[in-house]
Amino acid sequence: MQKYAVVGNPIAHSRSPEIHARFAAQTGIALSYQRLLAPLDAFEAVVVAFFAGGGRGLNVTVPFKEQAFQLCGDRLTDRARVAGAVNTLWQHDGQLHGDNTDGEGLVNDLKRLGWPLVGKQLVIVGAGGATRGVILPLLSAGVASITIANRTLSRAAELVGDLAPYSQPGQLSSCALSSLQGQVDLVINATSASLGADGLQLPESLRYDHAYEMAYGKPSAFLEAARLRGVPVADGKGMLVGQAAEAFRVWHGVLPQLFDL
Ligand code: ATR
Repeated sequence: MQKYAVVGNPIAHSRSPEIHARFAAQTGIALSYQRLLAPLDAFEAVVVAFFAGGGRGLNVTVPFKEQAFQLCGDRLTDRARVAGAVNTLWQHDGQLHGDNTDGEGLVNDLKRLGWPLVGKQLVIVGAGGATRGVILPLLSAGVASITIANRTLSRAAELVGDLAPYSQPGQLSSCALSSLQGQVDLVINATSASLGADGLQLPESLRYDHAYEMAYGKPSAFLEAARLRGVPVADGKGMLVGQAAEAFRVWHGVLPQLFDL
């Protein structure tokens, strides 16, 4: 039986074992997939022991994605390098390799929703790790343009600068959150605003056809405002299934079907 697991701290809440078990049933691949609780100061030791014990692949969650990135040295996919974080590990010739499937997970979920991306104009709000984690797969999905809008404009401008080698001229731009305006196809909230009291407020002057909140399980002022405008909305639960599907594809070579969690 091929051994897989998800490692984090805390980990008891993780739904990854259930998701991978469903993918395994769908595709007829025999595997086990466990939760691993790593002590905060012993992530590397847990990873080493897992692969030494015959483990085939590890998913990594909070708070270890940046440490996983460090452990891989330069054995990273481009999307993991840009993200600065790794959520999918495997070994090849005794060495650890890392990928980040969050962005493709978002693209997978947008496809499942039937929200078009090719030739479309997107706004991503936020310029932190969550945006870094998804930007490359969104660019690769054939969008016409992405504006990274942030409360602090300098962070958005810096991120656009970092991404210049990976984007077409004119495909990426930055903007202060307060000066967003005009009409776009999709707005993605990649801020941590829904964790705070006020939530994300978009300027009234921005019009949009679809609204996606990357977080889930918390009330979202952003999605509430979109609903009031009659705009189709989705939260990040589907992205969780989508990133697991992409990790499954990386490990097993087959992309399983997404489902409602
Ligand atoms: P993460 O790794 O989750 O992206 P982060 O790096 O701390 O976390 O980034 C949080 C993002 O949410 C930032 O873009 C932050 O904006 P600033 O750079 O201006 O701080 C954004 N953010 C947090 N609370 C917000 C709010 N109430 N309204 C708008 N943006 C908010």
